[in-house]
Amino acid sequence: MEVIHLSVECFPIAKVGGLADVVGALPKYQRALGIDAKVVMPWFDCPFVKEQQFEVVTTGSFFQGSDELQYEIHKEESDVLGFPLFLIKIPGKLDREEVYCYPDEAEQWIAFQHAFLHWIQNHGIYPSIIHCHDHHVGLIAFLLQHGVDFRNLADIRTIFTVHNGQYQGWMNWSKGILLPSFDTWKWGLLDWDGVINPLAAAIKCSDAYTTVSDGYLNELFIDANGLQALFNAESGKAYGIVNGIDTAYWNPSSDQLIERNYNRVTVNRGKEENKQALCKQFNLPLAFPLISFIGRFAKEKGADLLFDICVKLFSVRQNVSVFILGSGDREIQNGLIELQLQFEGKINLFFGYDEKLAHQVYAASDMLLMPSRVEPCGLNQLYALKYGTIPIVRGIGGLRDTVVDVLEEGYGFVFEKLNADEAVKTIERSLDMYTDNKIWKGIRKKAMQLDFSWKRSAQKYVELYNQLLK
Ligand code: GLC
Repeated sequence: MEVIHLSVECFPIAKVGGLADVVGALPKYQRALGIDAKVVMPWFDCPFVKEQQFEVVTTGSFFQGSDELQYEIHKEESDVLGFPLFLIKIPGKLDREEVYCYPDEAEQWIAFQHAFLHWIQNHGIYPSIIHCHDHHVGLIAFLLQHGVDFRNLADIRTIFTVHNGQYQGWMNWSKGILLPSFDTWKWGLLDWDGVINPLAAAIKCSDAYTTVSDGYLNELFIDANGLQALFNAESGKAYGIVNGIDTAYWNPSSDQLIERNYNRVTVNRGKEENKQALCKQFNLPLAFPLISFIGRFAKEKGADLLFDICVKLFSVRQNVSVFILGSGDREIQNGLIELQLQFEGKINLFFGYDEKLAHQVYAASDMLLMPSRVEPCGLNQLYALKYGTIPIVRGIGGLRDTVVDVLEEGYGFVFEKLNADEAVKTIERSLDMYTDNKIWKGIRKKAMQLDFSWKRSAQKYVELYNQLLK
């Protein structure tokens, strides 16, 4: 069975968030199950592309409005990823350094989807399944069914995975002329509330849609940033499949990026040495429990609460330190700088995304804080658990599905209400347990024993593919 994953992020080529980690791992685990899984994504001007060997397998062109766009299909040669990777390069559109935030984003993703369909149509490529990830590739299912030039492809089954329903790819109908020609009387399938909504189109037209946890699926039925009625109407083809993690890469016993490797048996020594290294680098006290936050500075992740949480925490507890790694909203960032000045020596920050540092932070920290407003799955809590770092999370979406509170004989700390007081109370609860070495070791051991690897979830996707092909 040939499955093509379509996404605009894939680790390690281009990563902004968890989407990249999923697309960079799932195909590998599916191949282990005998599925011919591949990834197709936009070409990026990035280190991976510069360092690896690529071959241009074909070229072509199509019209986007009145512009003729040329595309090149680059295939990665040496199979370093464990799955075939194809990059679509379109000079002037898909040849950039960053993944997002260009003013012509709508044109970029339309061009990506058009080029992909043009390529497979003209080269007789006929996968069993096209698996689309997030709104950037939300038009594929519609175009397969109603694109005038893609009639030969109409029987390919499509799955759409919602990694984040907050972003929907809205575009004004004036962009309609940039789409490949489609059966115009079907325009309603593209529309939601008077604009083209690629996420809505995907939910309507795909053969099945999945969310990255069960909990998140149930939340989308209630609030999906305006699409809740649609998610409900199409619930007959909805499945919640929780993400896994790539334990070949996220594993403290073999991780090349951390100071000192460790496993369940050597965790105390191991974490201590990793903590020493991080605390030295960032001028943090070694003797205090270290709580970290890793993520985008966005409201969705609750990053706007970090300021209040820290102020309140330091007013009730002196012996604790905090490390924050991420980037995003300017205002949040400025607040954190202020915080650092106020509590120098107790809190430190790193702005930006640094893969190596992220690994080091998981290895060095005692707890990981995730005060998310919305969390479709969340991978950070899963990485943390693997590294014996105890998650303190808001009970929402995938966090609720994957973190069980110690009060229920679990291995983490969960709070319900999203406010700084609740978060601080829960952090205090964790600090109290931390002081009892024996209890803490027990929690840690439990955390590290869990299996959140992709094996189970990759199999679930394969079952779904089989069901659609019946
Ligand atoms: C998005 C979600 C996150 C999820 C990830 C991978 O980034 O916000 O919760 O884990 O996608 O599916």
